[in-house]
Amino acid sequence: MIRKVIGIYYSPAGGTEIMTETLARKIGKILDDCSPLGVNVECFDMLKTQSDNIVFDDETVAVIGMPAYVGKIPLPAAAALRRIAGNGAMTLTAVSYGGRKYGNALFELKRLSEECGFKAIGAGAFMVSYMARRGSSRSAVPSIDGEAIMDFSKAASEKIKRLAGCEIEELRIKPMPVEVNGRMPVHKISRISPKAAAIAQGVFNRMSVLRRKSEWFL
Ligand SMILES: Cc1cc2nc3c(=O)[nH]c(=O)nc-3n(C[C@H](O)[C@H](O)[C@H](O)COP(=O)(O)O)c2cc1C
Repeated sequence: MIRKVIGIYYSPAGGTEIMTETLARKIGKILDDCSPLGVNVECFDMLKTQSDNIVFDDETVAVIGMPAYVGKIPLPAAAALRRIAGNGAMTLTAVSYGGRKYGNALFELKRLSEECGFKAIGAGAFMVSYMARRGSSRSAVPSIDGEAIMDFSKAASEKIKRLAGCEIEELRIKPMPVEVNGRMPVHKISRISPKAAAIAQGVFNRMSVLRRKSEWFL
């Protein structure tokens, strides 16, 4: 039975934090509504939390959120995740992106989470845009694709209920592998300070036209 939903994120400018917390809280609420023992929700910034303080087990669902930088996962985020042991916890991996292309970031994040011992049961790329309007300069508060996040949360919660429904591990339904297209990137994006991320975000917004919508896989 699921007792905890833990959101962990890397978020230099704050948008991925909002996306991850929204996902974790919505899923936690849906699971809590049908759980006799209750479901707790906690969220952590990966870079500010000691990895030993976040404990995952088969009664936990992890929501792991990272931004797509030039179609990849930022290196400090990947390094922070590598220090965490998934211990077989179910995980939903989520990438935030500015509506251009998320490239291999979702594939990379899902693969990485599996290497850390998580059981990937779903993945989504959600638009988190700082563009006030097309081609304008950076807006302070990001707009997130709330509708897609809500749809994904509902569908993912149903899947979690099906998979976690049985107390005996051996009798539980085994999920089909989640298919996300992509390949491991050849090189990675290195450390970026929040200030540099905000400047880069402004440049990115001026160059970009929103092309793609959020998409998710279960
Ligand atoms: C250096 C940099 C590179 C980015 N590259 C992409 C990209 O390739 N495709 C895209 O759609 N958005 C891109 N973005 C936009 C971010 O992925 C998106 O706004 C993300 O939500 C920012 O997360 P944060 O607010 O947690 O920092 C980039 C942003 C930065 C700062």
